[in-house]
Amino acid sequence: MDTNRVIIFDTTLRDGEQSPGASMNLEEKVRIALALEEMGVDVIEAGFPIASNGDFEAVEAVAKVVKTSTICGLARATKGDIDRCAEAIRPAASGRIHTFLSTSPLHMKYKLQMEPEKVLEKVRESVAYARKLTDNVEWSAEDGSRTEHDFLCRCVEAAIDAGATTINIPDTVGYAIPEEYAALIAMLFNRVPNMDKAIISVHCHNDLGLAVANSLAAVGKGARQVECTINGLGERAGNAAMEEIVMALRTRPDLMPYRTGIKTEAITRASRLVSTITGFVVQPNKAIVGKNAFAHESGIHQDGVLKHAQTYEIMTPESVGLHRSSLVMGKHSGRAAFKAKLKELGYDLGDNAVEDAFNRFKDLADRKKDVFDEDIVALVDDAVVRG
Ligand code: KIV
Ligand code: ZN
Repeated sequence: MDTNRVIIFDTTLRDGEQSPGASMNLEEKVRIALALEEMGVDVIEAGFPIASNGDFEAVEAVAKVVKTSTICGLARATKGDIDRCAEAIRPAASGRIHTFLSTSPLHMKYKLQMEPEKVLEKVRESVAYARKLTDNVEWSAEDGSRTEHDFLCRCVEAAIDAGATTINIPDTVGYAIPEEYAALIAMLFNRVPNMDKAIISVHCHNDLGLAVANSLAAVGKGARQVECTINGLGERAGNAAMEEIVMALRTRPDLMPYRTGIKTEAITRASRLVSTITGFVVQPNKAIVGKNAFAHESGIHQDGVLKHAQTYEIMTPESVGLHRSSLVMGKHSGRAAFKAKLKELGYDLGDNAVEDAFNRFKDLADRKKDVFDEDIVALVDDAVVRG
């Protein structure tokens, strides 16, 4: 087994769908699941089967059509939830039950209104019950990052003893910072005796914008499953963005020698599909998949990229499924980019004509935010007509 292989667990269809306004219907969920399978996602969390009949049917439909990814359903720590989840994933070639319970003092006292010993008992019971229904069981310590260490160690040990094959330590409210979260994972490896019997997973929310950094820090300490979503969709500020995790690992193997099974060339397509289906527009400057992620406007950058792409690009556009990077023509653009643009548009002008067109382009760019190809064509044609 490759000990540096990181399992990608995508929860776009479950935690991602919990974004207010991101509900998807069955057919849409199936389309996204197939795209995730095609891109090489290891585990697809397809929904929360007890939540509604629609959710149950969607998980079941995904379980029927997807062949190579493991299909997972979420369940609280009750027999009813776990039974419903087991039923929904039954058609899957490979299925997983993901059951969870809160372990932080705050959640136990106010949300569960349960004593810690009772929580521990429920962890054992729920995992053991799920394990009777499938041999692939994930247990999550909800609000794990705000849980007392001694208690978290006892819960993790109990869940593994009861048969959990994956242990997930969520940063449910996106409160952790990278050093702290990495130390938490390292602490579990140091203190829990049976940790080698399960894969340790991380699930980070982005309330402080640290979800990806926290996930990668945890991988550095031995976590080998990362839970994430396409475009970082998810509750509140979202979950760790899959495209960022995967491309960070691909781009910096010198410092992070871990690999995923994701075909990164499928990233852009998956991002656009999720955005179209949910109606959630991707911010232009979003890492990896934003419309500006491979666009250059300043003259200095454009000149650099035209001479050697790596001057201002740390990954190739092709590696994420784009045909090429773009030189955006605006007031910061320089002659080099303008000449390249003229060539791309099919013009072969003499030096004087280029200079004339460039000056008129600069005037236009001062007046107009975006200068489109059509504007440049009009400007050059006009110059040609004027002679
Ligand atoms: O954020 C969280 O804690 C969750 C769990 C259900 C895994 O989504
Ligand atoms: Zn979550």
